[in-house]
Amino acid sequence: APALLFLTVNGAERNAAIADGDMPLIYWLRGELELTGTHLGCGKGECGACTVLIDGQPARACQIPVAAAAGRSVTTIEGLGTPLAPHPLQAAFIAEQAAQCGWCTPGMVMEGAALLARDAQPGRDEVKAALDGHLCRCGSHHRVLRAVLRAAG
Ligand code: FES
Repeated sequence: APALLFLTVNGAERNAAIADGDMPLIYWLRGELELTGTHLGCGKGECGACTVLIDGQPARACQIPVAAAAGRSVTTIEGLGTPLAPHPLQAAFIAEQAAQCGWCTPGMVMEGAALLARDAQPGRDEVKAALDGHLCRCGSHHRVLRAVLRAAG
């Protein structure tokens, strides 16, 4: 029988009947909860597109098994803000037009939001270091950097 796991996702209690606890968290978020804002890029932990927060810490949802997130609190891009009430970093991404094709954007925003949560005034070097593992094939990095610095005020 599938194991029943309990997780908090974007502030709501969810349960997951998972036959394979090794299933990556991203498949459950996208397939079961239809939270398709978390994007699958490489699927190998190398691009950062799938980044979500687990108990406030950035984590790559393609590498974390659902079972490893049991009992913890997961935040996806949908839980960070809404179009009517965006997180300051989401608003800054729009202001700086920091999304190009947009595939890497949710991961960049989640990583940047985690940085701003631990350091409200990061410098350029801190932002670059935090986003170092996030790949963008369009070359949006300069705008992303400006967006995070804008959100830092
Ligand atoms: Fe998870 Fe690339 S999709 S790191």
